Amino acid sequence: MTVPRVIPILDQRVAAPVSGHWPSAMASGLPRDRLNRPLHDLRISVTDRCNFRCSYCMPKEVFTKDYPYLPHGDLLTFEEISRLARAFATLGVRKIRLTGGEPLLRKNIEALIEQLADIRAPDGQALELTLTTNGTLLTRKAVSLKAAGLRRATISLDALDDAVFRRMNDVDYPVAGVLEGIEAARAAGLGPLKINMVVKRGVNDHEILPMARHFQREGLTLRFIEYMDVGATNGWRMDEVLPSAQVLDCLRQAAADGLLPALAPLERAAPGETAERWAYADGSAEVGFISSVTRAFCGDCNRARLSTEGQLYLCLFAHQGHDLRGLLRSGANDEEITAAIAGVWQARADRYSELRASLPAESLGAARPRIEMSYIGG
Ligand code: GTP
Ligand code: 5AD
Ligand code: SF4
Ligand code: SF4
Repeated sequence: MTVPRVIPILDQRVAAPVSGHWPSAMASGLPRDRLNRPLHDLRISVTDRCNFRCSYCMPKEVFTKDYPYLPHGDLLTFEEISRLARAFATLGVRKIRLTGGEPLLRKNIEALIEQLADIRAPDGQALELTLTTNGTLLTRKAVSLKAAGLRRATISLDALDDAVFRRMNDVDYPVAGVLEGIEAARAAGLGPLKINMVVKRGVNDHEILPMARHFQREGLTLRFIEYMDVGATNGWRMDEVLPSAQVLDCLRQAAADGLLPALAPLERAAPGETAERWAYADGSAEVGFISSVTRAFCGDCNRARLSTEGQLYLCLFAHQGHDLRGLLRSGANDEEITAAIAGVWQARADRYSELRASLPAESLGAARPRIEMSYIGG
């Protein structure tokens, strides 16, 4: 069988050179990693570009027009992505999420969605096919995305206050455009919709309650995300993280003041989920807390990440990938590709968020070179 190589990548997206060989393939059954975690979600980044410059993800000073975005020939083609996705499905993947950058910027993304919608798990079931977007292109694309086979969408929105939001996306994009996109997605049947809000202390924490009230009335799930030290460009500092416990306190206080219905905790919907879920007692909506900093959820993390150029990453905080594009383009057959992915998964022991607390402060944030969120997707 072809022995795939792990190639060194020497640019700022991935800092550490990689050496060594791929681990041996799985003998039988679905692979488990070294912490006994199955492979369930595949997050596919389809572009490293975005039309926003959120400071926590693609700060303007770094992501200038001269930034070395990937050239087109380096991107996986739709056929290559689908072929890899089929291999992942045979290994247990049940959910595929398209991410970016901004995934709707990838030309004719509907054609990729059509191909992915045809993939079946070994038991014949279709995969759950979803996408995380900033919502700016949804008004134009929601209907065609649905028609192509997309099941649902998650939309990022960090504030309802126009000035705050324009500042956070740093391209002066108005809230109204995203709200319109949310409506278009709802009308097209891309629900249940989830709204993701990254909370940065002192930047948009005063928007927690307005956001909660708005989306409770809309009956949509709002998820509060702790600002993470992902990538090496956002200048992350612990004192800018607002712990989810404080967000929950704020919502409870609002409920006590009659501004929101009371909240009750829900079971996690599935093992490995990112969010802790709560529901309003009147059944109007749910809220979620994604607390990667204060309550790490690596214990049952079942997510693999495929970068735009076909590198397989085993953790959002990884600094080295495994070159699946090279393997594909070397002429490997499906069996070899599947075996290689299984082998990599079996060697996985990543649990960065759990380890973060015990890392010395000087190794956090920019001090630790690693991939950017815009390169690998949330
Ligand atoms: P659902 O299937 O709808 O629950 O989606 P999801 O939460 O798996 O995906 P989404 O893209 O909505 O993720 C929300 C946010 O959670 C991301 O933007 C990241 O900030 C964070 N996140 C997602 N996956 C991981 C992960 O594996 N590790 C960490 N630390 N954070 C993650
Ligand atoms: N911390 C937390 N979430 C982030 N995202 C991007 N950067 C960060 C960060 N530093 C998430 C946002 C967005 C998704 C694409 O990635 O939630 O919804
Ligand atoms: Fe773009 Fe999303 Fe990153 Fe903002 S968080 S810059 S919208 S990819
Ligand atoms: Fe998974 Fe890594 Fe996130 Fe932990 S930090 S939940 S291992 S992606």
